[in-house]
Amino acid sequence: MIESGKPDYTDLRFPPPRDDRPYVLINMVVSADGKAVLAGTERGLGSKTDQRLMRELRLNADVVLNGAGTLRANGSSSRLNDEGLERLRVSRGKPPAPIAAVLSGRGDLPLGRAFFTGRDFDAIVYLSDAAPLERRQDIAATGRPVQVVPGDDALRAMLRHMRQELGAAVLLVEGGPHLNGQFFAQGLVDEFYVTIGPIVVGGTGVLTAVEAPYAFTPETAPRLELVSAYLNPETSELYCRYRVRRAV
Ligand SMILES: NC(=O)c1ccc[n+]([C@@H]2O[C@H](COP(=O)([O-])OP(=O)(O)OC[C@H]3O[C@@H](n4cnc5c(N)ncnc54)[C@H](OP(=O)(O)O)[C@@H]3O)[C@@H](O)[C@H]2O)c1
Repeated sequence: MIESGKPDYTDLRFPPPRDDRPYVLINMVVSADGKAVLAGTERGLGSKTDQRLMRELRLNADVVLNGAGTLRANGSSSRLNDEGLERLRVSRGKPPAPIAAVLSGRGDLPLGRAFFTGRDFDAIVYLSDAAPLERRQDIAATGRPVQVVPGDDALRAMLRHMRQELGAAVLLVEGGPHLNGQFFAQGLVDEFYVTIGPIVVGGTGVLTAVEAPYAFTPETAPRLELVSAYLNPETSELYCRYRVRRAV
């Protein structure tokens, strides 16, 4: 049943993580026609309530991850930007903000952005071993740790590091679409949170929430189970929480 109002994501419960990776959530906002960008960014797709839900999801996460494309387009951080939510995290024995992480193949990153200059949250760069050494050195010079991952198995190596070295139990992936697509293609998503906004973006070839490296077939398409859905009568947004069904 669709409920009215806004969900409360401040106290989500998840199954215990596996040994080799955290429990993985993806959060995105899309238009009513399924597009993930409006004039090149997600700004304008979601309301303040949607942004509040993004922060509530961060409250539950140990690491917040973006692809390098999103960092280049928008910047990225793991800040909650809300004293009440930060206090709640601290009362649960966690630092005020999760660790921010970014994954890059080439290492061509905007080193002046808050991801690198902010000191109110920890951050880490996962960089493919194919990236030039100078790039790796330039990134490390910002003071942010760089973890090199094999180009042909970057996601699994990154997730193993988050779980085993950072002790992360919950990872929140906040896009972009190409990163999401790889998570889905490799069967590495546990829950998918999507806000559907009351706007039509149109266009052809405009990014959707999941840009996988290949189109799924009826046999390989990830199947979802709706956990909750809320309709916000004030914003006309729909907030959906899905769990990914596992093959039996
Ligand atoms: N609607 C929403 O909720 C939402 C959320 C987030 C972002 N967005 C929008 O999405 C757009 C950006 O998304 P995008 O799909 O173009 O980019 P993206 O998914 O954020 O990042 C893609 C980049 O991540 C790195 N990467 C991905 N997989 C990798 C792997 N296996 N190994 C190494 N590196 C890997 C590569 O970085 P390098 O290129 O550095 O090698 C790749 O080019 C922006 O316009 C942003 O506004 C929308």
